[in-house]
Amino acid sequence: MQLPPDLLEAIDRVTAKQCNKANPDSAKKISDRYRNEQRSSHQSLVHTKDEIAAYVGARMPATYAAIYSALGYIKMRVPEFSPTSLLDAGAGPGTAWWAASNIWETLEKAELVERVTGMIQIGKDLLYQSEEHRQSIKEPLNKNILWTEADLTSSWVPGSSDLVIAAYVINELTEKDRQLLIQKLWNATKGVLLIVEPGTTMGWKRILQARDELISQGATLIAPCPHHRMCPVIEPDWCHFSERVNRSRLHRQLKSGELSYEDEKYSYAAFTKLEAGPAKSRIRRHPIFYNGYIELPLCSDTGLKLVKITRSQKVIYRIAKHSSIGDEWAESSKVAE
Ligand SMILES: C[S@@+](CC[C@H](N)C(=O)[O-])C[C@H]1O[C@@H](n2cnc3c(N)ncnc32)[C@H](O)[C@@H]1O
Repeated sequence: MQLPPDLLEAIDRVTAKQCNKANPDSAKKISDRYRNEQRSSHQSLVHTKDEIAAYVGARMPATYAAIYSALGYIKMRVPEFSPTSLLDAGAGPGTAWWAASNIWETLEKAELVERVTGMIQIGKDLLYQSEEHRQSIKEPLNKNILWTEADLTSSWVPGSSDLVIAAYVINELTEKDRQLLIQKLWNATKGVLLIVEPGTTMGWKRILQARDELISQGATLIAPCPHHRMCPVIEPDWCHFSERVNRSRLHRQLKSGELSYEDEKYSYAAFTKLEAGPAKSRIRRHPIFYNGYIELPLCSDTGLKLVKITRSQKVIYRIAKHSSIGDEWAESSKVAE
């Protein structure tokens, strides 16, 4: 995935403005912290201006890619959903707004809730930079974005929104706070609630907990699972997807990386209060290519399975060849030959 040019440009400008130079130490510190630190709802994992800018330069492109992909799958599952309002809990620099507004032009307003003042500041800077960019290409921005500085675990009560997102944030909360927050967010959801987590075993387990809780309350799970039954994935396996993100020069510098891309692993679940049509199976691992056939690891409504598509199944083979991990898959009987 290539980030939209106005976001890339805004990230470049804002991180240069904040740090003067890209700082690999801050980027590494932040990655280590997200990996290792004990979670507590009262501690922020980013502290200094330098670290916040490093988050934007080093992590935001990947979290954008994961949120954007998950939203794309939601759009496929409920194509008539045209949200006008967004609530983003733990908004950081506003990543979910960028992703959602690139999927739905219908979005008119957003409330972005974040407790770190510096994150809100940099998020506003990003939008300001981009507004300049859009104005320069004569595309007026008339969106209504409200930044709320609040602690999600406090008595803060969200207003209701068509689309509600909690991306890469519930891992920063204690189990009790997590449950309370998910409940608050579900109560505030008019259309769809999306929860995204890092694609680790722990991230997947947190998603599973939310899945069990919300299904027990009558939520319709629209993605990624094709059913509401118990998750058929068994440890040490775990359910996660992957999105390849092109790296900018700044990103390579921040991550001291040579490759022109990085793969962001993420887990997610999307729930709706709307009507949704029947789900298809989902490709849960990268398709495996052999001489003359392709194997697709699927999660289907009858559990996990490996489907073999041979070159002689011309149409289906062509579709499989262009399919990716995370895509829906209409089982062969439902695909016209
Ligand atoms: C890893 S960042 C993710 C930011 C953004 N959602 C994204 O995907 O790029 C987590 C954000 O949640 C915020 N956060 C964590 N706990 C919070 C809380 N209790 N109240 C409000 N914000 C919180 C952090 O300050 C941080 O900006």
